[in-house]
Amino acid sequence: MSKRHLVTAALPYANGPVHIGHIAGCYLPADIYVRFLRQMGEDVRFICGSDEHGMAITMRARKEGVEPRAIVDRYHNMMKGSFEEFGISFDIYSRTSSEDHHETAQDFFLKLHEQGVFQEKETDQYYDPEARQFLADRYIMGTCPACGHTEAYGDQCENCGRSLSPTELKDPRSTLSGSAPVLKKTTNWFLPLDEMADGIRSFLDQHKDWKPNVHGQCMSWLDAGDGLQPRSMTRDLDWGIRVPVKGGEDKVLYVWFDAPIGYISASKELMPDQWRSYWQDPDSRLVHFIGKDNIVFHCIVFPAMLMAHGSYNLPEAVPANEFLNLEGQKISTSRNWAVWLHEYLEDFPGKQDVLRYVLCATAPETKDNDFTWKDFQQRNNSELVAILGNFLNRVFVLTDKYYGGQLPDLDGSSDSEQAAWAEFTAHADRMEASIGAYRFREALGEFMGLARIGNKYLAEQEPWKKIKTDPERAAVILALAARMAAFIGQAAEAFLPFTAARIRNAFGMELMSWEELKKIDPAKWLKGVSAANPGLLFDKIEDEKMDEQRARLTQSEAEQSTAPAVDPQKETVDFESFQRMDIRVAQILSAERVPKTDKLLKFEVDTGLDRRTVVSGIAEFFDPKDLVGKRVPILMNLAPRKIRGIESEGMLLFGEDSEGSLKWVEPDAGLSPGSSIG
Ligand code: MF3
Ligand code: ZN
Repeated sequence: MSKRHLVTAALPYANGPVHIGHIAGCYLPADIYVRFLRQMGEDVRFICGSDEHGMAITMRARKEGVEPRAIVDRYHNMMKGSFEEFGISFDIYSRTSSEDHHETAQDFFLKLHEQGVFQEKETDQYYDPEARQFLADRYIMGTCPACGHTEAYGDQCENCGRSLSPTELKDPRSTLSGSAPVLKKTTNWFLPLDEMADGIRSFLDQHKDWKPNVHGQCMSWLDAGDGLQPRSMTRDLDWGIRVPVKGGEDKVLYVWFDAPIGYISASKELMPDQWRSYWQDPDSRLVHFIGKDNIVFHCIVFPAMLMAHGSYNLPEAVPANEFLNLEGQKISTSRNWAVWLHEYLEDFPGKQDVLRYVLCATAPETKDNDFTWKDFQQRNNSELVAILGNFLNRVFVLTDKYYGGQLPDLDGSSDSEQAAWAEFTAHADRMEASIGAYRFREALGEFMGLARIGNKYLAEQEPWKKIKTDPERAAVILALAARMAAFIGQAAEAFLPFTAARIRNAFGMELMSWEELKKIDPAKWLKGVSAANPGLLFDKIEDEKMDEQRARLTQSEAEQSTAPAVDPQKETVDFESFQRMDIRVAQILSAERVPKTDKLLKFEVDTGLDRRTVVSGIAEFFDPKDLVGKRVPILMNLAPRKIRGIESEGMLLFGEDSEGSLKWVEPDAGLSPGSSIG
């Protein structure tokens, strides 16, 4: 191994809480890896923080009608808290809105700028003249050129899945103001990935050892029809880090430029004097844990930035996972189809290790995988309880019962002890190799192999029978089993840190280094030590608890989907235009269908000023006989129009629900016909 390891986990967007997909995809494998390196005695730093810029944040803020700052403050603290409680052992959890990060990212940009790396290019971008800002792709909607869907976004049509650029949309409109955007020239700073393609290719060629899903995705970017394209590192937006060069005053750094530099800023914050050696000394290794949607940024864009800068190491490994599904469906924040970490921690107090275990055992390491509560329950009950918990519990209970907790000595052990110990430690060796190869599921399987061997040894040796017939032999058996239990308390540290600590406490042990652990001679270890039974380390999870979780899931999804879809605001009108509208309360005197039409109703109404006729296209929503006598808002001074030969003088006003059905807007009882509304 090398001198230093810098391990990063993708900076999550501070636009919502963390869910199990994030954990399984990135944070848990990273934590297992780092904990294991620490136990190996390696010099490692584990870096993370919140990604607080970009559209993910501003869109959330807009949706909630608050400032971006309020969003990032809320979720940064929430995520930081849940990670900590879940035992994700970051050395630092920083944030990209910090002043130091702004400075670091700007310095990085300036350095590339001074070295002439960027191409300044003028392009046409959509601009909203009313909102007076350039529009990010997501803020433009229009008609999909492929399928005609009228609600397609500037970057993608969610109806047919096609990815789009905003200028391909027909009838584009700004979601900020509803108005039609105009193309306007703007200058941005581009990273010429096309010119850097050779360097990137030779970097990737050195890493054919990367997971096939990761390497394959990189190659398909490189080998795509028109290859790598220059990518703008600045954006015409407001929320973000100011572009520190002339002409950049109204622009911010592209979020995918600033966020990975967040790894550097966080390292500086953690190690003001030593961060350089972790990033720049060729003896240091850089490892990025991420989810698969981040591959191109960590394997191509960020390395290109680092290469262009010149002083930095490039990542040695990027062990990206695929996606975790939930009960057979894609996890979705917007549909609220997710198991949120903070809710799990509330609902399953003290059971961090159960979720850590299940998420590691089902981690989507090579392909997408599915999390189900049924599987969660089963793995808890038949693996953690029945195998691991069972072995540990037997050891503690029997040691207590036979020897008052005092561990017997292993003197007089036989070949069967030698053989069992060798078989046992072979699992630990394989666990080490698997972690080193980023195969954490396999490693966890090997870890569980330790408990399986323990159970097998006890089942074969039956100390509970020998305690009567051959107590000396029983003592040897329990002596070895207790060493196995203690060993498990050391080896569990990477996967199940809470359980590991409880086991070590029971034996009064500190965490040992992996080297020490491998050198252990069980006959000489833990002589004269007593074990305090820690009680059950795992317990059965009943069906009801799982039913509750499934119900919670479908319920929160249902609540989410009944939340009304709200139309964007219409074009601004000035006060004078508004004042010209004469809106009053009218009372319906009669209502009847207009013959030979499906939709039209003809009304006689009392406006307080006069009686008049109004025609309205609302017949599919109301029965005319229910309407007589009701009061309703009317727009009085709409220019009269002839509808089916009937002159309509004004317009009755109704509400429209999210499904498009009209609903009554009932004026207060105190508003008699003729009362004005405004
Ligand atoms: N915030 C991004 C996401 O959640 C990940 C950023 S990783 C970093 O997809 F490298 F940019 F920090
Ligand atoms: Zn489409």
